[in-house]
Amino acid sequence: MKKVGIIGGSGFIGSYNTQKFLNEGFKVKVSTTDITKREKYEHLLSLKNAECLEIVQLDVENKQQLADFLQGCEIVIHGGTPFQLDVKDPKTELFDPTIKGTENFLEVIQNTSGIEKVVFIASVAAYNTHFPLLPENKTEDDQINESDTPFMSEQSHPYGQAKFIANQTVNKFIADNPNLNFEITSVFASWCYG
Ligand SMILES: NC(=O)c1ccc[n+]([C@@H]2O[C@H](COP(=O)([O-])OP(=O)(O)OC[C@H]3O[C@@H](n4cnc5c(N)ncnc54)[C@H](OP(=O)(O)O)[C@@H]3O)[C@@H](O)[C@H]2O)c1
Repeated sequence: MKKVGIIGGSGFIGSYNTQKFLNEGFKVKVSTTDITKREKYEHLLSLKNAECLEIVQLDVENKQQLADFLQGCEIVIHGGTPFQLDVKDPKTELFDPTIKGTENFLEVIQNTSGIEKVVFIASVAAYNTHFPLLPENKTEDDQINESDTPFMSEQSHPYGQAKFIANQTVNKFIADNPNLNFEITSVFASWCYG
């Protein structure tokens, strides 16, 4: 039975991923930033196959915690960054966990054996930090797709900027490391709600 590590598995998207992998017979290790806040993850404990679930504390700004978390995982989903629009200090609340957290993750995963697949929960903001508004150089008549140069503005919301820069970090890592032993996939989600 393979083990999947889901960073941010206690969150909204992460909880659905956790449920899916448990349903499909995987062992699942989920992170939460504060294990004492049971209300953040207790909904996972009543999922089908929850006996195959392990929940551990992890902050992606802490490399040792990341290394410990990744041990024994063959598949890793990284969706552990704040989805937060109301911010007072963008650096500590968004840029550090999102960008530094991604840098830490990439550094640690290179030194972790047994990883087969990595999935990043990225964002449509990696293509357009103004989303859902148009990039500055586009009109309503333009089509925009993945072949367009991604658009980033420092006037955009810090959440969009953080997700954009984190994705650039992943892209650079892939370009710099063409012979990785594991596959990397990024999912560019737009709005997920329910
Ligand atoms: N929802 C959307 O519409 C949407 C769209 C595009 C992309 N995304 C991306 O999808 C991912 C999940 O979003 P969501 O909507 O599911 O948000 P969410 O419910 O707020 O979940 C965020 C998860 O990230 C964890 N997390 C936050 N800071 C962390 C840190 N420093 N270290 C480790 N884990 C941390 C949280 O853990 P705790 O709860 O335990 O603190 C939580 O499990 C994010 O990367 C977000 O940018 C979301």
